[in-house]
Amino acid sequence: MFSVLRPFLFNLDPETAHDFAVKSLKFNVLPSKMFEVEDEEMLNINLFGKNFPNPIGLAAGFDKSAEVYNSLLKLGFGFVEVGTVTPLKQYGNPKPRIFRLEEDQALINRLGFNNDGMEVIKDRIRSNGKKGILGVNIGPNKTTKNQKNDFCLGLSNFCDLADYITVNISSPNTEGLRDFHDQKKLTELITALNKIKKDKKTNIPLLLKISPDINNSHIPEISDIAIKNSISAIILTNTTNNHRDDLISALKKEEGGLSGNPLSQVSTNMIKKFSKELNGKIPIIGVGGVNSGKSAYEKITAGASLLQLYTSFVYRGPSAAKEIKKELIQILKEQGIKNIKEAIGKDV
Ligand SMILES: Cc1cc2nc3c(=O)[nH]c(=O)nc-3n(C[C@H](O)[C@H](O)[C@H](O)COP(=O)(O)O)c2cc1C
Repeated sequence: MFSVLRPFLFNLDPETAHDFAVKSLKFNVLPSKMFEVEDEEMLNINLFGKNFPNPIGLAAGFDKSAEVYNSLLKLGFGFVEVGTVTPLKQYGNPKPRIFRLEEDQALINRLGFNNDGMEVIKDRIRSNGKKGILGVNIGPNKTTKNQKNDFCLGLSNFCDLADYITVNISSPNTEGLRDFHDQKKLTELITALNKIKKDKKTNIPLLLKISPDINNSHIPEISDIAIKNSISAIILTNTTNNHRDDLISALKKEEGGLSGNPLSQVSTNMIKKFSKELNGKIPIIGVGGVNSGKSAYEKITAGASLLQLYTSFVYRGPSAAKEIKKELIQILKEQGIKNIKEAIGKDV
């Protein structure tokens, strides 16, 4: 079905195609059984108190305003992360702001956190009972005077509704956001968020999403802060501002964050480095160019316990999660591995 639709979708501007996909997902009547795979129990994994049916999650940015997460769960994703949600609704950057680099199996985006805002999204989640594991990714508005406060609002508003909260300090399209990788700013931010958790008596897992463009010297610092402040998992990585030289596509000079195939090795290397530093104290969620069972397995053996994807969903279509799960199970069987847990960090 997707192979028939794909030429039509790829003829549209990428954002129009995305909006069409979200609209179609609202009418998703396909049974979830269609997206289950044989021996899926080999992919079950328990992490921060949640039982993930499989480790292939949909990354933040596709369902920014939490409109279709239940339909996405039906497509066989083990979990879905909505957002980035900001306190107030915002339009984001001027269009065009998503670019398809087909020859590179990549995307560049400079959306700038377009979303419906916290209040609308909160009501939406409240009225659409989640049918699986739902993460909410939070961030600040472009024009806010206090980015830290915007994160605090995000946590306060979603801690009762989500299974976990992702603190997104790594999108390249919001000025000043990546400064939170700095030791002092990061400590202040997490301390403020942990205080809210304490005041609200909630134990919601807090996850931290990191940029692939940081210096190596930041890795021990960030790991140390995350461990000391009880972060539940680290998501590696967001899109990159770098790595344009080897790209083929004419669109490679577009400003924005690069995702997909060219990010794959970059993020896997980051996973390896963090994995050595964290030494099993905090799990890692690997994201960046996961587009096959092989690329999924590489990230798991590099130290990731869960995975997320976005760009390969665009290129492989609605059965991306199903196909990757199937390929991953095949690899596990070939390696004589009974459950995905046994493969985590095997190569580190
Ligand atoms: C169009 C687009 C929009 C995105 N928006 C967000 C976002 O709002 N928040 C976020 O944390 N990451 C966002 N991301 C980054 C993805 O969640 C993911 O980290 C990145 O794309 C790498 O994964 P991939 O190679 O599988 O796409 C976005 C990515 C794309 C392609």
